[in-house]
Amino acid sequence: MTGPVPELADRAVACANRLLEADRVLLASHIDADGLTSAAIAASALERAGLPFETVFEKQLDEAAIESIAATEYETVLFTDFGSGQLDIIGECEDAGAFTPVIADHHQPAERDTEYHLNPLLFGINGASELSGAGASYVLARALADVSGQADADDPPVATDGGTATAATGTEAHADNRDLAALAIVGAVGDMQASGGELHGANAEIVAEGVDAGVLETGTDLAIYGKQTRPLPKLLEYATDVGIPGISNDEAGALRFLEDLDLELKRDGEWRRWAGLTNEEKQVVASALVKRAVSRGVPAGKIDQLVGTSYVLRTEPVGTELRDASEFSTLLNATARYERADVGLAVCLGDRGEALERARSLLRNHRRNLSQGIDLVTQEGVTHEDHIQWFHAGDRIRETIVGIVAGMAMGNAGVSRSKPIFAFAEKSAEEASGSGGDAEVKVSARGTHSLVRRGLDLSVVMGEASRAVGGDGGGHDVAAGATVPSGAEDEFVVRADEIVGEQLS
Ligand code: C5P
Ligand code: C5P
Ligand code: C5P
Ligand code: ZN
Repeated sequence: MTGPVPELADRAVACANRLLEADRVLLASHIDADGLTSAAIAASALERAGLPFETVFEKQLDEAAIESIAATEYETVLFTDFGSGQLDIIGECEDAGAFTPVIADHHQPAERDTEYHLNPLLFGINGASELSGAGASYVLARALADVSGQADADDPPVATDGGTATAATGTEAHADNRDLAALAIVGAVGDMQASGGELHGANAEIVAEGVDAGVLETGTDLAIYGKQTRPLPKLLEYATDVGIPGISNDEAGALRFLEDLDLELKRDGEWRRWAGLTNEEKQVVASALVKRAVSRGVPAGKIDQLVGTSYVLRTEPVGTELRDASEFSTLLNATARYERADVGLAVCLGDRGEALERARSLLRNHRRNLSQGIDLVTQEGVTHEDHIQWFHAGDRIRETIVGIVAGMAMGNAGVSRSKPIFAFAEKSAEEASGSGGDAEVKVSARGTHSLVRRGLDLSVVMGEASRAVGGDGGGHDVAAGATVPSGAEDEFVVRADEIVGEQLS
Protein backbone atom coordinates (compact mmCIF):
# COMPACT_ATOMS: atom_id res chain seq x y z
CA MET A 1 0.00 0.00 0.00
CA THR A 2 1.34 3.42 -0.91
CA GLY A 3 -0.95 5.64 1.18
CA PRO A 4 -2.70 8.85 0.21
CA VAL A 5 0.49 10.64 -0.90
CA PRO A 6 2.73 8.21 -2.85
CA GLU A 7 5.72 10.59 -2.82
CA LEU A 8 5.82 10.39 0.98
CA ALA A 9 5.09 6.68 1.37
CA ASP A 10 8.61 5.35 1.91
CA ARG A 11 9.55 8.03 4.40
CA ALA A 12 6.25 7.57 6.24
CA VAL A 13 6.87 3.84 6.59
CA ALA A 14 10.40 4.48 7.92
CA CYS A 15 9.02 6.94 10.49
CA ALA A 16 6.24 4.52 11.48
CA ASN A 17 8.68 1.65 11.93
CA ARG A 18 10.92 3.81 14.07
CA LEU A 19 7.97 4.77 16.29
CA LEU A 20 7.01 1.11 16.71
CA GLU A 21 10.52 0.37 18.02
CA ALA A 22 9.91 2.74 20.95
CA ASP A 23 8.61 1.69 24.36
CA ARG A 24 6.88 5.02 24.67
CA VAL A 25 6.75 8.30 22.80
CA LEU A 26 6.67 11.97 23.71
CA LEU A 27 4.36 13.77 21.29
CA ALA A 28 5.10 17.49 20.91
CA SER A 29 2.91 19.78 18.82
CA HIS A 30 2.18 23.38 17.93
CA ILE A 31 -0.57 25.50 19.48
CA ASP A 32 -2.88 26.29 16.61
CA ALA A 33 -5.68 24.53 14.75
CA ASP A 34 -3.25 22.64 12.53
CA GLY A 35 -1.04 21.73 15.50
CA LEU A 36 -3.99 20.47 17.55
CA THR A 37 -5.42 18.35 14.77
CA SER A 38 -1.89 17.04 14.08
CA ALA A 39 -1.61 16.03 17.73
CA ALA A 40 -5.06 14.44 17.75
CA ILE A 41 -4.27 12.41 14.62
CA ALA A 42 -0.91 11.30 16.01
CA ALA A 43 -2.40 10.51 19.43
CA SER A 44 -5.16 8.38 17.93
CA ALA A 45 -2.69 6.56 15.71
CA LEU A 46 -0.24 5.89 18.55
CA GLU A 47 -3.02 4.63 20.78
CA ARG A 48 -4.43 2.35 18.11
CA ALA A 49 -0.93 1.01 17.46
CA GLY A 50 -0.63 0.25 21.17
CA LEU A 51 2.17 2.74 21.83
CA PRO A 52 2.11 4.54 25.20
CA PHE A 53 2.60 8.30 24.83
CA GLU A 54 2.29 11.68 26.48
CA THR A 55 1.39 14.95 24.70
CA VAL A 56 2.91 18.41 25.17
CA PHE A 57 2.18 21.66 23.32
CA GLU A 58 4.52 24.56 22.64
CA LYS A 59 3.71 28.03 21.36
CA GLN A 60 7.06 28.01 19.65
CA LEU A 61 9.70 25.33 19.39
CA ASP A 62 12.62 27.50 20.47
CA GLU A 63 15.84 26.43 22.15
CA ALA A 64 14.29 26.52 25.62
CA ALA A 65 11.36 24.34 24.55
CA ILE A 66 13.66 21.81 22.89
CA GLU A 67 15.89 21.73 25.98
CA SER A 68 12.92 20.96 28.20
CA ILE A 69 11.91 18.15 25.85
CA ALA A 70 15.48 16.82 25.88
CA ALA A 71 15.43 16.88 29.69
CA THR A 72 12.57 14.34 29.82
CA GLU A 73 13.16 10.59 30.07
CA TYR A 74 11.66 9.99 26.63
CA GLU A 75 14.03 8.51 24.08
CA THR A 76 11.68 8.97 21.14
CA VAL A 77 10.03 12.31 20.40
CA LEU A 78 7.38 12.77 17.72
CA PHE A 79 7.18 16.41 16.60
CA THR A 80 4.07 17.39 14.65
CA ASP A 81 3.40 20.70 12.83
CA PHE A 82 6.84 21.95 13.84
CA GLY A 83 10.35 20.56 14.10
CA SER A 84 11.57 20.98 10.54
CA GLY A 85 12.48 24.65 11.01
CA GLN A 86 14.35 23.78 14.22
CA LEU A 87 16.31 20.80 12.88
CA ASP A 88 19.60 22.57 13.62
CA ILE A 89 18.88 22.54 17.37
CA ILE A 90 17.04 19.22 17.35
CA GLY A 91 19.97 17.65 15.49
CA GLU A 92 22.36 18.71 18.25
CA CYS A 93 20.13 16.96 20.81
CA GLU A 94 20.10 13.87 18.64
CA ASP A 95 23.92 13.95 18.36
CA ALA A 96 24.15 14.31 22.13
CA GLY A 97 21.99 11.22 22.54
CA ALA A 98 19.12 13.06 24.23
CA PHE A 99 16.42 11.56 21.98
CA THR A 100 15.62 10.33 18.48
CA PRO A 101 13.35 12.79 16.65
CA VAL A 102 10.54 11.70 14.35
CA ILE A 103 9.08 14.73 12.56
CA ALA A 104 5.80 15.20 10.67
CA ASP A 105 5.81 18.83 9.59
CA HIS A 106 5.27 21.14 6.62
CA HIS A 107 7.35 24.20 7.51
CA GLN A 108 10.50 25.27 5.67
CA PRO A 109 13.29 22.98 6.99
CA ALA A 110 16.50 24.35 8.55
CA GLU A 111 19.86 23.58 6.91
CA ARG A 112 20.25 20.24 8.65
CA ASP A 113 18.29 17.02 8.00
CA THR A 114 17.54 13.86 9.94
CA GLU A 115 16.52 10.29 9.09
CA TYR A 116 12.89 10.22 10.28
CA HIS A 117 11.75 13.48 8.76
CA LEU A 118 8.40 13.54 6.97
CA ASN A 119 7.86 16.89 5.22
CA PRO A 120 6.13 17.53 1.86
CA LEU A 121 8.76 20.15 0.96
CA LEU A 122 11.42 17.41 0.80
CA PHE A 123 9.42 15.70 -1.95
CA GLY A 124 8.41 18.60 -4.16
CA ILE A 125 5.02 19.11 -2.52
CA ASN A 126 4.06 22.62 -1.41
CA GLY A 127 3.84 22.88 2.39
CA ALA A 128 1.71 26.04 2.33
CA SER A 129 -0.97 24.89 -0.08
CA GLU A 130 -0.82 21.13 -0.66
CA LEU A 131 -0.19 19.54 2.74
CA SER A 132 -0.47 20.82 6.31
CA GLY A 133 1.04 19.52 9.55
CA ALA A 134 -2.17 17.57 10.13
CA GLY A 135 -1.87 16.18 6.60
CA ALA A 136 1.71 15.04 7.23
CA SER A 137 0.53 13.48 10.52
CA TYR A 138 -2.28 11.74 8.66
CA VAL A 139 0.17 10.27 6.15
CA LEU A 140 2.18 8.99 9.11
CA ALA A 141 -0.96 7.63 10.82
CA ARG A 142 -1.92 5.70 7.70
CA ALA A 143 1.58 4.19 7.55
CA LEU A 144 1.46 3.32 11.26
CA ALA A 145 -1.78 1.40 10.82
CA ASP A 146 -0.24 -0.36 7.89
CA VAL A 147 3.06 -1.45 9.38
CA SER A 148 1.61 -2.27 12.80
CA GLY A 149 -0.77 -4.68 11.12
CA GLN A 150 -3.65 -2.93 12.83
CA ALA A 151 -5.87 -3.29 9.78
CA ASP A 152 -5.20 -7.01 9.43
CA ALA A 153 -5.69 -7.93 13.09
CA ASP A 154 -8.26 -10.65 13.81
CA ASP A 155 -10.26 -8.36 16.01
CA PRO A 156 -9.81 -4.82 14.80
CA PRO A 157 -10.64 -2.15 17.39
CA VAL A 158 -14.37 -1.61 17.22
CA ALA A 159 -15.94 1.71 18.13
CA THR A 160 -17.18 0.97 21.61
CA ASP A 161 -16.69 4.35 23.23
CA GLY A 162 -20.03 5.67 22.02
CA GLY A 163 -18.42 8.77 20.52
CA THR A 164 -20.24 10.08 17.46
CA ALA A 165 -17.04 10.33 15.47
CA THR A 166 -16.27 6.63 15.72
CA ALA A 167 -19.76 5.26 16.06
CA ALA A 168 -20.85 6.40 12.62
CA THR A 169 -17.64 5.23 11.02
CA GLY A 170 -17.00 1.82 9.62
CA THR A 171 -14.65 -0.38 11.60
CA GLU A 172 -12.57 -0.69 8.49
CA ALA A 173 -11.88 3.04 8.21
CA HIS A 174 -11.04 3.05 11.90
CA ALA A 175 -8.60 0.18 11.53
CA ASP A 176 -6.64 1.77 8.69
CA ASN A 177 -6.93 5.28 10.22
CA ARG A 178 -8.79 6.73 7.26
CA ASP A 179 -11.39 8.12 9.66
CA LEU A 180 -8.68 10.58 10.76
CA ALA A 181 -8.87 12.29 7.35
CA ALA A 182 -11.58 14.60 8.72
CA LEU A 183 -9.18 16.07 11.30
CA ALA A 184 -6.47 16.36 8.64
CA ILE A 185 -8.78 18.52 6.57
CA VAL A 186 -9.71 20.70 9.56
CA GLY A 187 -5.96 21.31 9.99
CA ALA A 188 -5.42 22.17 6.31
CA VAL A 189 -8.38 24.54 6.28
CA GLY A 190 -7.18 26.07 9.58
CA ASP A 191 -3.82 26.82 7.98
CA MET A 192 -5.73 28.44 5.12
CA GLN A 193 -4.37 26.03 2.54
CA ALA A 194 -7.46 26.29 0.36
CA SER A 195 -7.13 28.64 -2.60
CA GLY A 196 -9.54 29.48 -5.36
CA GLY A 197 -12.26 28.07 -3.11
CA GLU A 198 -10.86 24.56 -2.66
CA LEU A 199 -8.04 22.33 -1.45
CA HIS A 200 -5.47 21.02 -3.91
CA GLY A 201 -2.84 18.33 -4.42
CA ALA A 202 -2.13 15.99 -1.52
CA ASN A 203 -4.87 17.70 0.51
CA ALA A 204 -7.38 16.73 -2.18
CA GLU A 205 -6.17 13.11 -1.99
CA ILE A 206 -6.84 13.13 1.74
CA VAL A 207 -10.30 14.60 1.14
CA ALA A 208 -10.99 11.72 -1.25
CA GLU A 209 -9.99 9.18 1.41
CA GLY A 210 -12.21 10.88 3.97
CA VAL A 211 -15.18 10.86 1.61
CA ASP A 212 -14.52 7.21 0.88
CA ALA A 213 -14.34 6.41 4.59
CA GLY A 214 -17.65 8.17 5.20
CA VAL A 215 -16.30 10.92 7.48
CA LEU A 216 -16.24 13.80 4.98
CA GLU A 217 -18.65 15.27 2.49
CA THR A 218 -17.80 17.91 -0.07
CA GLY A 219 -20.10 20.10 -2.08
CA THR A 220 -20.28 23.36 -3.96
CA ASP A 221 -21.69 25.89 -1.57
CA LEU A 222 -21.59 29.49 -0.48
CA ALA A 223 -17.95 30.25 0.43
CA ILE A 224 -18.79 32.32 3.48
CA TYR A 225 -17.58 31.70 7.01
CA GLY A 226 -20.26 30.63 9.52
CA LYS A 227 -22.68 28.57 7.43
CA GLN A 228 -23.38 26.22 10.33
CA THR A 229 -23.70 28.53 13.30
CA ARG A 230 -24.26 32.14 12.24
CA PRO A 231 -27.84 33.45 12.00
CA LEU A 232 -28.42 34.47 8.36
CA PRO A 233 -28.21 38.27 8.80
CA LYS A 234 -24.89 37.91 10.67
CA LEU A 235 -23.61 35.46 8.06
CA LEU A 236 -24.11 38.05 5.33
CA GLU A 237 -23.13 41.11 7.34
CA TYR A 238 -19.78 39.57 8.30
CA ALA A 239 -19.05 38.18 4.83
CA THR A 240 -16.61 40.91 3.94
CA ASP A 241 -14.10 38.99 1.80
CA VAL A 242 -16.16 39.52 -1.33
CA GLY A 243 -17.80 42.75 -0.22
CA ILE A 244 -21.34 43.26 -1.47
CA PRO A 245 -22.35 46.92 -1.17
CA GLY A 246 -25.38 47.39 1.06
CA ILE A 247 -24.97 43.96 2.71
CA SER A 248 -21.37 43.34 3.86
CA ASN A 249 -20.55 45.33 7.00
CA ASP A 250 -24.10 46.69 6.93
CA GLU A 251 -26.36 45.29 9.66
CA ALA A 252 -29.54 47.05 8.51
CA GLY A 253 -28.78 46.34 4.85
CA ALA A 254 -28.27 42.61 5.44
CA LEU A 255 -31.58 42.45 7.36
CA ARG A 256 -33.45 44.31 4.64
CA PHE A 257 -31.99 42.09 1.93
CA LEU A 258 -33.22 38.93 3.70
CA GLU A 259 -36.61 40.39 4.64
CA ASP A 260 -37.24 41.31 1.00
CA LEU A 261 -36.85 37.69 -0.10
CA ASP A 262 -40.03 35.68 -0.40
CA LEU A 263 -38.90 33.05 2.12
CA GLU A 264 -39.68 32.04 5.71
CA LEU A 265 -36.22 32.69 7.08
CA LYS A 266 -37.28 32.96 10.72
CA ARG A 267 -38.48 30.18 13.02
CA ASP A 268 -40.12 31.05 16.33
CA GLY A 269 -38.89 34.60 15.92
CA GLU A 270 -35.26 33.49 15.45
CA TRP A 271 -33.27 33.81 12.25
CA ARG A 272 -32.40 30.47 10.72
CA ARG A 273 -28.89 29.36 9.71
CA TRP A 274 -27.62 28.60 6.23
CA ALA A 275 -26.96 24.93 6.99
CA GLY A 276 -30.61 24.45 7.96
CA LEU A 277 -32.05 25.80 4.69
CA THR A 278 -33.37 23.47 2.02
CA ASN A 279 -31.51 23.38 -1.30
CA GLU A 280 -34.30 25.38 -2.89
CA GLU A 281 -34.08 28.06 -0.21
CA LYS A 282 -30.29 28.19 -0.58
CA GLN A 283 -30.73 28.67 -4.33
CA VAL A 284 -33.06 31.62 -3.83
CA VAL A 285 -30.75 33.38 -1.36
CA ALA A 286 -27.63 32.68 -3.42
CA SER A 287 -29.04 33.94 -6.69
CA ALA A 288 -30.40 37.06 -5.01
CA LEU A 289 -26.94 37.68 -3.57
CA VAL A 290 -25.28 37.28 -6.95
CA LYS A 291 -27.90 39.51 -8.57
CA ARG A 292 -27.29 42.20 -5.97
CA ALA A 293 -23.51 41.94 -6.43
CA VAL A 294 -23.83 42.26 -10.21
CA SER A 295 -26.18 45.23 -9.96
CA ARG A 296 -23.78 46.98 -7.57
CA GLY A 297 -20.84 46.51 -9.92
CA VAL A 298 -18.90 43.82 -8.05
CA PRO A 299 -16.43 42.41 -10.64
CA ALA A 300 -17.18 38.92 -11.99
CA GLY A 301 -13.92 37.51 -10.60
CA LYS A 302 -14.97 38.63 -7.12
CA ILE A 303 -18.46 37.21 -7.51
CA ASP A 304 -16.95 33.82 -8.38
CA GLN A 305 -15.36 33.84 -4.92
CA LEU A 306 -18.83 33.71 -3.34
CA VAL A 307 -18.95 30.03 -4.22
CA GLY A 308 -16.47 27.34 -3.27
CA THR A 309 -16.07 23.79 -2.00
CA SER A 310 -17.36 23.14 1.49
CA TYR A 311 -15.78 20.46 3.67
CA VAL A 312 -18.38 18.95 5.95
CA LEU A 313 -17.70 16.51 8.79
CA ARG A 314 -20.47 14.02 8.24
CA THR A 315 -20.45 12.49 11.68
CA GLU A 316 -20.97 15.82 13.48
CA PRO A 317 -24.41 17.32 14.14
CA VAL A 318 -25.79 19.87 11.64
CA GLY A 319 -25.68 23.43 12.95
CA THR A 320 -22.61 23.00 15.16
CA GLU A 321 -19.09 24.41 14.76
CA LEU A 322 -17.79 20.87 14.41
CA ARG A 323 -19.74 20.17 11.24
CA ASP A 324 -17.80 22.66 9.08
CA ALA A 325 -14.02 22.36 8.70
CA SER A 326 -13.52 26.11 8.75
CA GLU A 327 -15.64 26.74 11.85
CA PHE A 328 -14.07 23.74 13.59
CA SER A 329 -10.61 25.16 12.97
CA THR A 330 -11.57 28.52 14.43
CA LEU A 331 -12.96 26.77 17.51
CA LEU A 332 -9.57 25.07 17.90
CA ASN A 333 -7.62 28.31 17.50
CA ALA A 334 -9.85 29.77 20.19
CA THR A 335 -8.53 27.17 22.64
CA ALA A 336 -4.90 26.70 21.66
CA ARG A 337 -4.03 30.34 21.17
CA TYR A 338 -5.26 31.05 24.71
CA GLU A 339 -3.16 28.44 26.51
CA ARG A 340 -5.98 25.86 26.49
CA ALA A 341 -4.66 23.41 23.90
CA ASP A 342 -5.82 20.64 26.24
CA VAL A 343 -9.43 21.71 25.65
CA GLY A 344 -9.08 21.72 21.86
CA LEU A 345 -7.30 18.37 21.87
CA ALA A 346 -10.09 16.83 23.97
CA VAL A 347 -12.67 18.11 21.47
CA CYS A 348 -10.68 16.62 18.58
CA LEU A 349 -10.51 13.32 20.43
CA GLY A 350 -14.28 13.20 20.79
CA ASP A 351 -15.18 14.96 24.06
CA ARG A 352 -18.60 16.44 23.37
CA GLY A 353 -19.33 17.36 26.98
CA GLU A 354 -17.32 19.61 29.23
CA ALA A 355 -14.49 20.25 26.74
CA LEU A 356 -16.87 21.34 23.99
CA GLU A 357 -18.69 23.69 26.38
CA ARG A 358 -15.39 25.22 27.46
CA ALA A 359 -14.23 25.53 23.84
CA ARG A 360 -17.42 27.37 22.93
CA SER A 361 -16.93 29.89 25.67
CA LEU A 362 -13.31 30.39 24.60
CA LEU A 363 -14.62 30.91 21.05
CA ARG A 364 -16.87 33.78 22.16
CA ASN A 365 -13.83 35.41 23.71
CA HIS A 366 -11.67 34.76 20.61
CA ARG A 367 -14.31 36.32 18.34
CA ARG A 368 -14.48 39.39 20.53
CA ASN A 369 -10.70 39.74 20.42
CA LEU A 370 -10.53 39.28 16.64
CA SER A 371 -13.21 41.85 16.05
CA GLN A 372 -11.63 44.38 18.46
CA GLY A 373 -8.24 43.73 16.86
CA ILE A 374 -9.55 44.33 13.36
CA ASP A 375 -11.28 47.53 14.50
CA LEU A 376 -8.03 48.73 16.04
CA VAL A 377 -6.04 48.15 12.85
CA THR A 378 -8.71 49.69 10.65
CA GLN A 379 -9.15 52.76 12.85
CA GLU A 380 -5.47 53.46 13.49
CA GLY A 381 -4.36 52.41 10.03
CA VAL A 382 -1.10 50.89 8.89
CA THR A 383 2.19 52.51 7.86
CA HIS A 384 3.03 52.07 4.21
CA GLU A 385 6.64 51.51 3.14
CA ASP A 386 7.64 51.02 -0.51
CA HIS A 387 6.94 47.30 -0.56
CA ILE A 388 5.33 46.41 2.75
CA GLN A 389 2.78 47.78 5.24
CA TRP A 390 2.92 47.37 9.01
CA PHE A 391 1.40 48.22 12.37
CA HIS A 392 2.47 47.86 15.99
CA ALA A 393 -0.25 46.66 18.35
CA GLY A 394 1.91 46.93 21.47
CA ASP A 395 0.06 45.00 24.18
CA ARG A 396 -3.37 45.68 22.71
CA ILE A 397 -3.54 42.49 20.62
CA ARG A 398 -2.31 39.14 21.91
CA GLU A 399 0.80 38.05 20.08
CA THR A 400 -0.78 34.64 19.43
CA ILE A 401 -3.59 36.13 17.33
CA VAL A 402 -1.96 39.23 15.84
CA GLY A 403 -1.24 37.30 12.62
CA ILE A 404 -4.87 36.19 12.26
CA VAL A 405 -5.98 39.80 12.81
CA ALA A 406 -3.47 41.10 10.24
CA GLY A 407 -4.69 38.59 7.65
CA MET A 408 -8.33 39.40 8.28
CA ALA A 409 -7.72 43.17 8.14
CA MET A 410 -6.16 42.99 4.67
CA GLY A 411 -8.57 44.51 2.19
CA ASN A 412 -10.25 46.76 4.77
CA ALA A 413 -10.09 50.53 4.26
CA GLY A 414 -6.45 51.63 4.15
CA VAL A 415 -5.06 48.09 4.33
CA SER A 416 -3.85 47.02 0.92
CA ARG A 417 -3.99 43.53 -0.56
CA SER A 418 -1.15 44.33 -2.94
CA LYS A 419 1.54 44.52 -0.24
CA PRO A 420 2.31 41.99 2.49
CA ILE A 421 1.35 43.09 6.00
CA PHE A 422 3.65 42.90 9.04
CA ALA A 423 2.17 43.05 12.54
CA PHE A 424 4.10 43.60 15.77
CA ALA A 425 2.85 42.73 19.25
CA GLU A 426 4.61 42.63 22.58
CA LYS A 427 5.37 39.26 24.07
CA SER A 428 4.19 38.72 27.63
CA ALA A 429 6.73 39.45 30.38
CA GLU A 430 6.58 35.83 31.46
CA GLU A 431 7.91 34.70 28.12
CA ALA A 432 10.60 37.31 27.96
CA SER A 433 11.95 35.93 31.23
CA GLY A 434 12.42 32.62 29.40
CA SER A 435 14.79 34.39 27.04
CA GLY A 436 17.00 35.81 29.76
CA GLY A 437 14.72 38.71 30.67
CA ASP A 438 15.24 40.82 27.54
CA ALA A 439 12.01 42.20 26.16
CA GLU A 440 10.95 40.66 22.88
CA VAL A 441 8.43 41.46 20.21
CA LYS A 442 6.46 39.04 18.03
CA VAL A 443 6.09 39.80 14.33
CA SER A 444 3.53 38.08 12.13
CA ALA A 445 3.50 38.50 8.36
CA ARG A 446 0.72 37.68 5.92
CA GLY A 447 0.64 37.84 2.12
CA THR A 448 -1.74 36.73 -0.60
CA HIS A 449 -1.49 33.86 -3.05
CA SER A 450 -1.22 36.36 -5.87
CA LEU A 451 1.82 38.01 -4.24
CA VAL A 452 3.39 34.58 -3.79
CA ARG A 453 2.94 33.91 -7.49
CA ARG A 454 4.90 37.13 -8.10
CA GLY A 455 7.81 35.88 -5.98
CA LEU A 456 6.94 36.71 -2.37
CA ASP A 457 8.35 34.28 0.21
CA LEU A 458 7.61 35.51 3.72
CA SER A 459 9.42 32.58 5.31
CA VAL A 460 12.69 33.87 3.80
CA VAL A 461 11.83 37.49 4.67
CA MET A 462 11.09 36.66 8.31
CA GLY A 463 14.14 34.42 8.67
CA GLU A 464 16.62 36.89 7.16
CA ALA A 465 15.22 40.14 8.53
CA SER A 466 14.83 38.75 12.05
CA ARG A 467 18.30 37.24 12.17
CA ALA A 468 19.74 40.54 10.88
CA VAL A 469 18.46 42.21 14.07
CA GLY A 470 19.24 39.39 16.49
CA GLY A 471 15.95 37.49 16.35
CA ASP A 472 14.68 34.36 14.59
CA GLY A 473 11.72 33.29 12.52
CA GLY A 474 10.33 31.31 9.62
CA GLY A 475 7.12 29.73 8.37
CA HIS A 476 5.58 29.62 4.90
CA ASP A 477 5.75 31.73 1.76
CA VAL A 478 2.28 33.20 2.36
CA ALA A 479 2.34 33.42 6.17
CA ALA A 480 5.30 33.58 8.53
CA GLY A 481 6.35 34.78 11.95
CA ALA A 482 9.38 35.84 13.97
CA THR A 483 10.57 37.07 17.33
CA VAL A 484 12.85 40.12 17.49
CA PRO A 485 14.42 42.05 20.37
CA SER A 486 12.32 44.94 21.60
CA GLY A 487 13.53 48.18 20.00
CA ALA A 488 14.69 46.47 16.79
CA GLU A 489 11.35 47.00 15.03
CA ASP A 490 12.42 49.93 12.81
CA GLU A 491 15.56 48.18 11.63
CA PHE A 492 13.52 45.04 11.00
CA VAL A 493 11.03 46.98 8.86
CA VAL A 494 13.84 48.44 6.76
CA ARG A 495 15.34 44.97 6.15
CA ALA A 496 11.97 43.36 5.43
CA ASP A 497 11.03 46.14 3.01
CA GLU A 498 14.32 45.64 1.13
CA ILE A 499 13.96 41.87 0.88
CA VAL A 500 10.32 42.03 -0.23
CA GLY A 501 11.34 44.63 -2.83
CA GLU A 502 13.96 42.23 -4.21
CA GLN A 503 11.53 39.29 -4.24
CA LEU A 504 8.84 41.20 -6.11
CA SER A 505 11.16 42.87 -8.61
O1 C5P B 1 2.23 27.25 11.97
P1 C5P B 1 1.24 27.02 10.95
O2 C5P B 1 1.74 26.54 9.65
O3 C5P B 1 0.27 26.03 11.52
O4 C5P B 1 0.38 28.32 10.72
C1 C5P B 1 0.10 28.86 9.48
C2 C5P B 1 -0.61 30.17 9.72
O5 C5P B 1 -0.63 30.90 8.52
C3 C5P B 1 -2.08 30.04 10.19
O6 C5P B 1 -2.30 30.90 11.27
C4 C5P B 1 -2.88 30.49 8.97
O7 C5P B 1 -4.07 31.10 9.35
C5 C5P B 1 -1.91 31.43 8.29
N1 C5P B 1 -2.15 31.57 6.84
C6 C5P B 1 -2.71 32.74 6.35
N2 C5P B 1 -2.97 32.89 5.00
C7 C5P B 1 -2.66 31.91 4.16
C8 C5P B 1 -2.05 30.72 4.62
C9 C5P B 1 -1.81 30.59 5.98
O8 C5P B 1 -3.00 33.63 7.13
N3 C5P B 1 -2.95 32.06 2.87
O1 C5P C 1 -9.47 32.11 13.22
P1 C5P C 1 -9.04 31.51 11.92
O2 C5P C 1 -7.65 31.88 11.55
O3 C5P C 1 -9.29 30.06 11.82
O4 C5P C 1 -10.00 32.18 10.84
C1 C5P C 1 -9.96 31.74 9.52
C2 C5P C 1 -10.86 32.64 8.70
O5 C5P C 1 -12.21 32.49 9.14
C3 C5P C 1 -10.58 34.12 8.85
O6 C5P C 1 -9.62 34.58 7.96
C4 C5P C 1 -11.94 34.72 8.59
O7 C5P C 1 -12.16 34.93 7.23
C5 C5P C 1 -12.90 33.71 9.11
N1 C5P C 1 -13.41 34.04 10.46
C6 C5P C 1 -14.49 34.89 10.58
N2 C5P C 1 -14.99 35.19 11.82
C7 C5P C 1 -14.44 34.67 12.91
C8 C5P C 1 -13.34 33.81 12.83
C9 C5P C 1 -12.84 33.51 11.57
O8 C5P C 1 -15.00 35.38 9.58
N3 C5P C 1 -14.97 34.98 14.09
O1 C5P D 1 2.35 33.12 14.65
P1 C5P D 1 1.90 33.29 13.25
O2 C5P D 1 0.46 32.92 13.08
O3 C5P D 1 2.22 34.60 12.64
O4 C5P D 1 2.74 32.23 12.44
C1 C5P D 1 2.72 32.17 11.04
C2 C5P D 1 3.61 31.04 10.59
O5 C5P D 1 4.97 31.31 10.89
C3 C5P D 1 3.29 29.74 11.30
O6 C5P D 1 3.41 28.73 10.36
C4 C5P D 1 4.36 29.64 12.35
O7 C5P D 1 4.65 28.32 12.69
C5 C5P D 1 5.54 30.29 11.69
N1 C5P D 1 6.49 30.88 12.66
C6 C5P D 1 7.81 30.47 12.68
N2 C5P D 1 8.70 31.02 13.57
C7 C5P D 1 8.31 31.98 14.44
C8 C5P D 1 6.97 32.40 14.45
C9 C5P D 1 6.08 31.83 13.54
O8 C5P D 1 8.19 29.59 11.90
N3 C5P D 1 9.20 32.50 15.28
ZN1 ZN E 1 0.67 24.08 10.25
